[in-house]
Amino acid sequence: MTPRPGHMLLLLAVAAAATAAEPRLENEAAENTPENNVVSSRCNPPELSLAGNRVVSADFTVITEVHFWGAIGPLGDRKLCKIKCIDGGWFGPLCQVKDDGKFHPLLRNCHFKALPPQLLVTYQNVSIETDSKKVFPHGVEVMVRCREVGSYKLLGESVLECQNGVWSHPLPICIPTTTLTNFSDESPPTLMIKVPTGSSAVEPRGELAVFPGSIVHLECAFSRKLGNPEWTWTSKFREYMTGWAMSAEERDWKYRLSIYYSKPQDSGEFTCTTPIGTSNTIVINVKAIHCPLLEVIDPHVTARIEGSRMGHTASFQCPVGFFLNGTSNLTCEATGHWSSPPPKCLPVQCPSVNPVDPRLDVVNVNRSYGGRVTFSCPWGYKLTGPPNLDCLSNGRWSGKVPQCQPVHCPPPQPPPNGRILETGGQALSDGRYSVGSAVQFGCAESYQLMGEPTIVCTERGFWSHSPPFCKPRCSYPGDPVNGHIAPIKFYYEPGDHVKVTCNSGFVVRERTATSRPTCRPDGSWSEKIPTCVDYSEV
Ligand SMILES: *[C@@H]1O[C@H](CO)[C@@H](O)[C@H](O)[C@H]1NC(C)=O
Ligand SMILES: *[C@@H]1O[C@H](CO)[C@@H](O)[C@H](O)[C@H]1NC(C)=O
Ligand SMILES: *[C@@H]1O[C@H](CO)[C@@H](O)[C@H](O)[C@H]1NC(C)=O
Ligand SMILES: *[C@@H]1O[C@H](CO)[C@@H](O)[C@H](O)[C@H]1NC(C)=O
Ligand SMILES: *[C@@H]1O[C@H](CO)[C@@H](O)[C@H](O)[C@H]1NC(C)=O
Repeated sequence: MTPRPGHMLLLLAVAAAATAAEPRLENEAAENTPENNVVSSRCNPPELSLAGNRVVSADFTVITEVHFWGAIGPLGDRKLCKIKCIDGGWFGPLCQVKDDGKFHPLLRNCHFKALPPQLLVTYQNVSIETDSKKVFPHGVEVMVRCREVGSYKLLGESVLECQNGVWSHPLPICIPTTTLTNFSDESPPTLMIKVPTGSSAVEPRGELAVFPGSIVHLECAFSRKLGNPEWTWTSKFREYMTGWAMSAEERDWKYRLSIYYSKPQDSGEFTCTTPIGTSNTIVINVKAIHCPLLEVIDPHVTARIEGSRMGHTASFQCPVGFFLNGTSNLTCEATGHWSSPPPKCLPVQCPSVNPVDPRLDVVNVNRSYGGRVTFSCPWGYKLTGPPNLDCLSNGRWSGKVPQCQPVHCPPPQPPPNGRILETGGQALSDGRYSVGSAVQFGCAESYQLMGEPTIVCTERGFWSHSPPFCKPRCSYPGDPVNGHIAPIKFYYEPGDHVKVTCNSGFVVRERTATSRPTCRPDGSWSEKIPTCVDYSEV
């Protein structure tokens, strides 16, 4: 029974009013309106709100009592509450806190200030993890026991009732026993419970419920060299076998009492008293407690159910791709209830994908186990991670949601003896270029550009071509006067020669008659072009 949010709000209203012995619901309007003074026995609509809305809208000239459900107590039980119109004012709330059908004023709540870790509090057969914020309404009973029955001895009352903000008894204490104190003399003996056949469970008050027909060994831990302890019992039903354990590792410190094939008449107190006067007691209640048969409706659940007798356990598993919603292990408790409701197997679902980067495009989201989400980025951007994430069996995506990062090309390298003439796009401060930028190269004088003069930054972050290179060349040196050179080209490659032929009547100047100008690797001519002179001058 889960309280709806509305009831929680009502609980707030109730809890706020619950500190006074006869709490009165404030209603300022009632005191201020003149009509109210005339008809003093009527009340104005009560100022109770639920999620911002008025709880009741009715003709309050005739209504004298308002009933509503309040979520009362640490389990948030729905209890019928009411407020009452008396002499023009609302009084209450009064709630059916106990199960006697009567409305009781909500007196002060109780709580536990600091609960020692060994103490276990049970309220309405449900064990409660208490903190100082959990409040228990006036009039309810809680049961307190030591978590490890037999390892601690409870000193004090195990049933506490909340009486107008005060517990009926001081909080009991758990005294550690011999096995926890290294067999110190003052410690009561540890009582160990073994149930080799049958089943048992600890009750909210710390008593041991035993299923009829079980075999129970109670072992009193005491140092044998200090003497023999004594087992006593309150049941008049039969005598029990007692004595030191047989096995070598136990016979010096375990004094045992055995109950074979327990019957309801075996119920009672079993006390081990040591020769030095310390004692510890366990209360045994032999009763056939069954829990309701567990119905496993969910087809995905794999259940291993030991049985439905008190002390039996059931464990549950889910197949891959499903997660267990609830508790995997259940115990049939001495109260006849399973420790928790059977769990469900719910299909794994990965969280929805909320990209932080607005440029990221999320395509095809399948949040089921084995499903996939695919990402893409707009033109000029690339993903910072893989383009897919898979939904894993643990309900998580296989990685982080990527982002979109602008694509850049590395700084272009001008070739030796060349340079960048112009760029169609702005270089970044580190020299890189964004997608679509173009860079044009040129070569120094007497060099020829080979390859693509213009390169473009592509979407993949590479330039469209490798940069060109600059090849040295010699330019046409020009014909000498009265002669010509051969071969005639615009440009000559390194290693090319030219030969001068003079027009008729002219000869190459003798001094240079044998010269053959050669294009040098740096693009210059090895020598001047010979000149032609009138042969009469030779
Ligand atoms: C327990 O007591 C025995 C003797 O009484 C001593 O030898 C041993 O050291 C003690 N152990 C611890 C853990 O205190
Ligand atoms: C598990 O079940 C409870 C109700 O039993 C529900 O409130 C809770 O939201 C569920 N958890 C998930 C993750 O579905
Ligand atoms: C549930 O019980 C099984 C054995 O039945 C055990 O292996 C597992 O650890 C237990 N799980 C929890 C959460 O206690
Ligand atoms: C608690 O369990 C006992 C049986 O041990 C039963 O008699 C009682 O009615 C239960 N109380 C509640 C509130 O369930
Ligand atoms: C999601 O993925 C799962 C596992 O691959 C598949 O079985 C399911 O049909 C997918 N759902 C949709 C709506 O495509």
